[in-house]
Amino acid sequence: MVSEARIRAELDNVLDATDFPGLGKRISGKVRDSYLLDGRRVLITTDRISAFDRILGTIPFKGQVLNQIAAFWFQKTAAVGANHMLAVPDPNVMIVAECEQLPLEFIVRGYVTGVTKTSAWYNYQQGVRNLCGNPLPEGLRKDQQLAQPILTPTTKHEEHDRNISRDEAIREGLIDGATFDEAAALCFRLFDAGVRHAAARGLILVDTKYEIGRRHGQLVVSDEIHTPDSSRYWYTDTYAELFQQGKDQRKLDKEYVREWLVSQGFRGDGPIPVLPDEIRIEAARRYIQAYELVTGLEFQPVEGPIRDRVRQALARVA
Ligand SMILES: Nc1ncnc2c1ncn2[C@@H]1O[C@H](COP(=O)(O)OP(=O)(O)OP(=O)(O)O)[C@@H](O)[C@H]1O
Ligand SMILES: [Mg+2]
Repeated sequence: MVSEARIRAELDNVLDATDFPGLGKRISGKVRDSYLLDGRRVLITTDRISAFDRILGTIPFKGQVLNQIAAFWFQKTAAVGANHMLAVPDPNVMIVAECEQLPLEFIVRGYVTGVTKTSAWYNYQQGVRNLCGNPLPEGLRKDQQLAQPILTPTTKHEEHDRNISRDEAIREGLIDGATFDEAAALCFRLFDAGVRHAAARGLILVDTKYEIGRRHGQLVVSDEIHTPDSSRYWYTDTYAELFQQGKDQRKLDKEYVREWLVSQGFRGDGPIPVLPDEIRIEAARRYIQAYELVTGLEFQPVEGPIRDRVRQALARVA
């Protein structure tokens, strides 16, 4: 595990934005910057952190952690479902096959939890008993396991994500029924594989978000997979006791930062609180720990200025 001092020393050595001329057109997402090359996309995972659909700042090593966890899972689940990964030329970079993205995000949930407006627990507390077409029984408690995983899609390309059911998505002309069902089946297969592997590592894969794209007529999983940004992870060994006591779960995901923001009165609207160094360091520690627990490998922090290193890797790709 990387020491706190080492993380502190990297507080300013972060990849917050990229501008690599010669790589083609840049498209900036909240966390990743993409450059398009004929049929391929250079996906650079920066150290930016987003929550509540806003960019909040940077966390040291976060880009490397996310890219390497995604690469791990793409490799691990390749037999379960096709994905977009082609190569990983740098810890922060993945070359992927360019896909046509479906206009929904597919979230699979095994538990009722979460503080954001699209989360199951937030909605349940507001009285919602049907989440995206999934009936929810009375009497559920925060962090309770569902009888079986449910799919709760959200819309993309809107200012804030919005929960939507299969039938609403079809009615709004976002997707056809056959494509939805094929994508849903793919997501449940991937989630099942994720839950099993996580369990073998002493972790609960609580919920996760998939982006599905189409490539030569085939549906493939794109963007990221089972990362601490797109998923919640809890520790298995303390789950039951904490749940029974009504206490918060021990988490490995970015809920830590979300909850700090909520404690500052921020839920996505208005000015963004500046992340203090201590929060950034603790978040980095958790991301690195997530890498080590999920993959079973020791995290190898890369030395030296990150921007130069990524630029050199990209010069070899272009
Ligand atoms: N294989 C792929 N083909 C085409 N687009 C992809 C592929 N993989 C990822 N993307 C897109 O690249 C972008 C990655 O950026 P990032 O993950 O930061 O975006 P985001 O945080 O999801 O937010 P937004 O896309 O709303 O800006 C996303 O828009 C994602 O849909
Ligand atoms: Mg994304």
